[in-house]
Amino acid sequence: MPPDSQTPFLVLSGIEKSFPGVRALQDGRLELRPGEVHALLGENGAGKSTLIRILAGAQPPDAGTIQLDGHPIRIASPHEGRRLGISVIYQEFNLVPAMSVQENLFLGQEHSRAGWIRRSTETRAARELLDRLGARFDPDTLCRDLSVAEQQLVEIAKALLHQTRVLVMDEPTAALSGREVDRLFTLVRDLRSQGIAIVYVSHRLDEVFELCDRATILRDGCHVATRDIADLSRPELIELMVGRALTAEYPTRSPRIGEPRLVVQNLSRGNAVQDVSFEIRRGEILGLAGLVGAGRTETARLLFGADRADSGSISLDGQPLELRGPADAIRAGICLLTEDRKHQGLVLNHSVRDNFSLPNLPRFSRLGLLRSTAESSAFDRYVHDLRIRISHPTQPARLLSGGNQQKVVLAKWLQSDADVILVDEPTRGVDVGARFEIYQLLHQLADAGKAILMISSELPEILGMSDRILVMRGGRIQGEITDVPNASQADILRLATS
Ligand SMILES: Nc1ncnc2c1ncn2[C@@H]1O[C@H](COP(=O)(O)OP(=O)(O)OP(=O)(O)O)[C@@H](O)[C@H]1O
Ligand SMILES: [Mg+2]
Repeated sequence: MPPDSQTPFLVLSGIEKSFPGVRALQDGRLELRPGEVHALLGENGAGKSTLIRILAGAQPPDAGTIQLDGHPIRIASPHEGRRLGISVIYQEFNLVPAMSVQENLFLGQEHSRAGWIRRSTETRAARELLDRLGARFDPDTLCRDLSVAEQQLVEIAKALLHQTRVLVMDEPTAALSGREVDRLFTLVRDLRSQGIAIVYVSHRLDEVFELCDRATILRDGCHVATRDIADLSRPELIELMVGRALTAEYPTRSPRIGEPRLVVQNLSRGNAVQDVSFEIRRGEILGLAGLVGAGRTETARLLFGADRADSGSISLDGQPLELRGPADAIRAGICLLTEDRKHQGLVLNHSVRDNFSLPNLPRFSRLGLLRSTAESSAFDRYVHDLRIRISHPTQPARLLSGGNQQKVVLAKWLQSDADVILVDEPTRGVDVGARFEIYQLLHQLADAGKAILMISSELPEILGMSDRILVMRGGRIQGEITDVPNASQADILRLATS
């Protein structure tokens, strides 16, 4: 390590930022040293993404200072930020789907000399960069044809095209599978050894402990602490984030499991789902594990009528179901919380409260005049229990932080009267405190006699929540784990990859 690696080169202090009705940052601080992986942590709505946007030059702060190499600077635009060596990969990627990888890489680049010379230099540069990142796709590939992990590589490549000193990654692993996460970690460590400072935002604490050197914790827009990861225990870190001690990360429960409710037999659709049979019983939480692409989401979509099965049968409480679409599933009492909340779960320009009540409208409208009172009190309860950070119920959903948007969708479905609840990655992007509340809600629903299917890529969550676990691979059920308390992550992985 270079001798000055302990000296911060970039310092943000006293950063303030307000939006109408919300004080997103009150005292934002961040200090970066060269060649460190620095975790930026905090609950949903704590101000992480806002601090990052200010660092990137995408939003001006209301107050505060930024120093680079000891000199105060103003980062007036993202372009200016990149010129100073600051690159950000946002929660939502910024690639143009219909353009090629190469076009995306050089989009908005200044050095435009005309004609084929430029084009061929660009191709060479793109190839070299992608090789260096271990990408196995061509610069000519259209971005819409890439997987999430590949798109992320393009974003990283874009950042490395510039002389990057700071690379910010906002929840980079939220949509990656285990193997892709490993590859990303290798890449991040490699960038760190080149002296780049990486700011790493994640709600997965396992990753933080595995990858990061230091952590800065924000709570309610204020800097709480900056610490070496090696000096922090997991409970300490959680307490710094949520402001109170969490005695356990998973609530306990003594399940009362009854007769089979949802029975699935020989369900198939193309190669994605092949001859899948299982049942979920009254009061049972069935975990569905497997790598990304194993067929878990596809199975859930068949159960919800979002896709049609080629063959096989589904029955609920002994009644065979003919699902021609989601409307049939909802009528039969089956609901699905999709993994892609942003696109399938929310109407971003509608208010938070409308988003909450829309799918539940029949239920509330039956109450006639009481409707808005009943609705408001249910809404208020979820906002309180899940700690959803909103300035007002009429706030448009698009203005909520990523994790708070997910909490709204989740509340909306938990509120419905469904008998079978399918949840796909229910806590993705959700902070550790709210996760606990979500787990408790799922327990309550199971205890009320519902049948729950939980898809999750986070093995501790699958192990912590499931009464029984099915593991899928290549569209098939590869195995079952019934003695969950004595099972390990390795047991699941063995089935998922064997
Ligand atoms: N453009 C905006 N207009 C109004 N409010 C905003 C805007 N951007 C952010 N906020 C609010 O500022 C607060 C901080 O949001 P921010 O996105 O920084 O949180 P975060 O820490 O990144 O959360 P998450 O973990 O959920 O991604 C939230 O209450 C959010 O609703
Ligand atoms: Mg965020």
